[in-house]
Amino acid sequence: MKEKPSGTSRGQFSNVGFILAAAGSAIGLGNLWKFPYLTGSNGGGIFVLVYLVILVTIGFACGLAEMALGKHTKLNPVGAFRTISKKWAIAGFLGILIPFFISTYYVVIGGWITDYLFHFIGSGASAMAPDTEAYFNALISDPIRPLLWTCVFVAINLVIVSVGIKNGIERANKVMMPALFVLLIVMAIRACTLPGAMDGIRFFLQPDFKSLSMDTVAAALVQVFFSLSLGTGCTLTYASYLPKETDLVRNALIVPALDSTVALLAGFVTLPAVFAFGFAPEAGPGLIFITLPAIFNAMPFGNILGFLFFLLIMFAALTSSVALLEPPIAWLIDTFRVPRKRATIGMCLASLLVAVPVSLSNGPNGWQIGGRSFFDFVIHITEDLMIPISALLLCLLVGYVWKRDSVRQEISQGGMYSFRVESVWYVLLRYVAPPAIFFVWLTSSGIL
Ligand code: TRP
Repeated sequence: MKEKPSGTSRGQFSNVGFILAAAGSAIGLGNLWKFPYLTGSNGGGIFVLVYLVILVTIGFACGLAEMALGKHTKLNPVGAFRTISKKWAIAGFLGILIPFFISTYYVVIGGWITDYLFHFIGSGASAMAPDTEAYFNALISDPIRPLLWTCVFVAINLVIVSVGIKNGIERANKVMMPALFVLLIVMAIRACTLPGAMDGIRFFLQPDFKSLSMDTVAAALVQVFFSLSLGTGCTLTYASYLPKETDLVRNALIVPALDSTVALLAGFVTLPAVFAFGFAPEAGPGLIFITLPAIFNAMPFGNILGFLFFLLIMFAALTSSVALLEPPIAWLIDTFRVPRKRATIGMCLASLLVAVPVSLSNGPNGWQIGGRSFFDFVIHITEDLMIPISALLLCLLVGYVWKRDSVRQEISQGGMYSFRVESVWYVLLRYVAPPAIFFVWLTSSGIL
């Protein structure tokens, strides 16, 4: 298997283009769907605190390492690992497999979003009210309906990719991402001023150290990687399109800052509303699907705002799902010279195929593995088991195998950019991240 040599044929991002694309990949269902429900089911403020601590330490260290590796090698994950050391190529395969598996449930949730969006167009929030919980449960356990919407979601993905990332995604990103920020702020203000919202704000911001457990730490670490798209091949692949003159340290700060701002805003929208409307914060994956329509139903202009909001979630999900398919597609093209169109259609179909049992497993007679629905099983295997291993291998490769001088040269561009954090970063990468990730992996995999 040969990798395509680096060169202009791979295309290049401008630095702003990279930040937009990296933020587009990072900001997605992980922020808007997952972060609020994880916070709800992991004790509130304590989860947020642990999440932020891990974000600025291990998240930053791994992010910078992944960007440096991608930019240096200008290759897909397999090629990048192999360039530093032949023996490590196998680790790069995780960067191809993981995004594929994520895509199989990402498109199912994308399907739920599509269903909500279309019902908002039809009859507004009243389509889900008064019992938003019953609506959600009926949707996900239906054998046909979510799958039809999943097909619609995948079809939109295909259209975007065929229009071209540059014309489709990049241009739309510039409008939709700022719009998402503004709407989230408006919604957060609305949610925080609902009667009874104060309890939710307290729950979200006040860490209760009694609920700190190894499970909380494990959930937070897994979420940091998932939300930043780390250890999943994507940041690496995107960084491989970066021009030589790029301040990586700055990028490794900006992307997580944007990403976590969106996650926190999503928390300020959801949790106060959960308390105000008397829902249980531990509701799990259905949380935003159950609470948000209830808020929209109760607020002036709720139908329009609700439609806009689900449109933006849909957009955030699309910029991520398109990015999820990029590492496997890039690998098929680089390695087997499959034409891009064929590679894209093939990956979409493969993802849909696995999405069928994933979606069906939420139904009454769904496929169960080890006491988990197949849906939860795929999430568990990818996020709890594979992503931490992939991130651990990345830390070890960049921290120990790749020569320090060469790393420094890549990140500082021979002194052109400040790399004052070098020694702290190395300590994090060598001595903090690997044991922390390993211990968490023992917990999240169920071994401990
Ligand atoms: N970060 C994305 C989100 O928060 C999910 C994700 C993980 C992802 N790894 C990825 C997206 C790789 C694109 C590429 O929703």
